[in-house]
Amino acid sequence: MELTTEERVWLDGEDGPAMRRAMEIVVALASIYGAERLIPVESVQISGVSFRNIGDAGLSFLRGWADEGARVRVPTTLNPTAMDMADWQCQGFSPKFADKQQQVVDVFAGMGVGGGTPVPTCTPYLIGNRPGPGAHVAWAESSAVSFVNSVLGARTNREGGPGAIAAAIAGRIGAYGLHLEENRQPTLRVEVLAQPETIADYSALGALVGKATRKAVPYFQGLGLDVEDSLREEKLKALGAAMAATGAVALYHVEDVTPEAIAGMVPSGDVGILTIDDVRSGYALLSDDVGVIDLVWIGCPHASLPEISRVAEMVKGQHLALPLWITCARPVRDLAVAQGLVDVIEAAGGSVFADACMAIAPVRDLGFSAVATASAKGAYYLRNLAKVDAVFGDLEQCIDAAVAGGWQKPRFTIDGSLAQSVS
Ligand code: F3S
Repeated sequence: MELTTEERVWLDGEDGPAMRRAMEIVVALASIYGAERLIPVESVQISGVSFRNIGDAGLSFLRGWADEGARVRVPTTLNPTAMDMADWQCQGFSPKFADKQQQVVDVFAGMGVGGGTPVPTCTPYLIGNRPGPGAHVAWAESSAVSFVNSVLGARTNREGGPGAIAAAIAGRIGAYGLHLEENRQPTLRVEVLAQPETIADYSALGALVGKATRKAVPYFQGLGLDVEDSLREEKLKALGAAMAATGAVALYHVEDVTPEAIAGMVPSGDVGILTIDDVRSGYALLSDDVGVIDLVWIGCPHASLPEISRVAEMVKGQHLALPLWITCARPVRDLAVAQGLVDVIEAAGGSVFADACMAIAPVRDLGFSAVATASAKGAYYLRNLAKVDAVFGDLEQCIDAAVAGGWQKPRFTIDGSLAQSVS
């Protein structure tokens, strides 16, 4: 592989052991995937932050690298932690767990992540980190990878935990995979015959397509989504997150909507075709057969301010019978506080937590065994990672469940749209 003089110096350890270790990882990954050179990255997003997931072994690995002098050289953000870093007592975390989680964040802060004050979130693009079309970045969280590739038109592969840290320290990544134009071409045409309406419908559609296609680059036609739709980004965020969860889709295109499709990228005539004529099975795919739930979770991927605003409108003046937890980035929560939305939600009995992701939290230890969510990705990981029962429905259905104290199984009208159960 061709390395610049500077990269060779780093690899040889002349810039210290932390950089050498980073370069060894970057070069090894680049070699495995057949890259001929390294490219600079504009930003990095690191996953593997929850202490529940990485444990003492992961913490010790991070600390060892930091002790060698590891410092990030490009703007770097962190994925969510297991808990709200300020309000973990209200969530029911033990002081012992909270201390370990704080240590993980402190190590990243010491490396210069977030300028020394990391903001854990899976939606860095909602708090100002929006790489432009064609920008090379190294992001790790699957829904963020999908968004930055597909909706913003930037370029990243889905980095692993150590790979992303190495990229942040070296500021380089191998030129392979989705960094290359030829690998961004659609490999599957998805014809959507029943247009999704709600954001949850997009999530359900994504769950079906992800399950069916695994690693394809889908090109959606017939989605009925307008570039002027005020919910466009939220719908695409839900679509991409779901495809990344049930499959490993890191890039998709939507005809006339996403930047590369607008610029003229179309599938060649010989790609496969997937037809989706109904999104209902996407809901069933991600729901356990339970009526009793003990938590409602909104904010996967992390909630936007408009999403929190919609929840506030729906719960205003209500008295929730079940805990309703909304997760978001801290700057989004701060805005929600400033606009009085958090007060409204808390008055109803709900909570808005920053930093946290329930899918990577010890949900059972917090006392929950069945969770309702408006996110296909959330439901998928609650079942497969957090090991609790999950039910998936649209936002209204989730809020209704929090108010009523139980999950009403959905029924479907004859034209295929989802209706609330009344019995
Ligand atoms: Fe984000 Fe956790 Fe969902 S990382 S996308 S809130 S599973």
